[in-house]
Amino acid sequence: MEIILKDTYEDLCRAAARMVAKMLNAKPNAVLGLATGSTPIGIYRELIRLHREEGLDFSQVTTFNLDEYVGLGRNHQQSYHRFMQEHLFEHINVPAQNIYIPSGTTDNYEAFCRWYEQRIKECGGIDLQILGIGVDGHIAFNEPGSSLGSRTRIKTLARQTIEDNARFFDKPEDVPVYAITMGVGTILEARRIALVANGKKKAPAIAAAIEGPVTSLCTASALQLHADTTYFLDREAAGDLKMIEYYEWIQAKGPGAPYSTTWRRSV
Ligand code: GLP
Repeated sequence: MEIILKDTYEDLCRAAARMVAKMLNAKPNAVLGLATGSTPIGIYRELIRLHREEGLDFSQVTTFNLDEYVGLGRNHQQSYHRFMQEHLFEHINVPAQNIYIPSGTTDNYEAFCRWYEQRIKECGGIDLQILGIGVDGHIAFNEPGSSLGSRTRIKTLARQTIEDNARFFDKPEDVPVYAITMGVGTILEARRIALVANGKKKAPAIAAAIEGPVTSLCTASALQLHADTTYFLDREAAGDLKMIEYYEWIQAKGPGAPYSTTWRRSV
């Protein structure tokens, strides 16, 4: 795991967006896994800026979103379809036919989930998955107790998540109770993962994910089993990490060149 610590939310969004841009420069037809929630908004803002001002090209990109609320149509104010249009897709040049978001209104969820998994495979798998994290340590909508091998399916939301997301709805009763979500197993198959978190509220979940045991009670902890995960954190979200000094020390030394003479000399 790589841990990148930044002083401000803007800095961590810029760093995460740079990772996406680097990926697209190396592989213009990359498959991106995208997340919703307030955290990735800054990354999308920076990607839009890079597209407008520096010509970052999404014309060959394919995207798969993590999740959607069951029961919300694509035009519902709080649907993740709408969120993605407003915060990213309307402002960049990713072709509409290359955008995949789980459907919250399909007639047959089981068949839809199978098809979604199949489409990810047919498109070559996800090259880079962006993730946020819930206060209870969930990734996508994989609530505590989710199988760490789970695939795209319907999940019942935890009370904590409903309360956290109630801020986006008129009344707490309006928050859907079910979601369709990629599974932890689906996410772990992404070649690269970037998890972004900011603010004090996320500190316990981040500490549990990075330094706690691998457990279904904090589904982000499953990322410890993934070989190429980067955490982008601000100081507050990193506030409960026990090994913080070590992560800072690694960051100060720059990216590892473990077998170089410089490294040997400095250790
Ligand atoms: C929802 C989403 C997650 C997201 C989480 C945190 O539960 N399904 O993908 O990580 O919210 O959202 P926020 O970034 O607003 O804290």
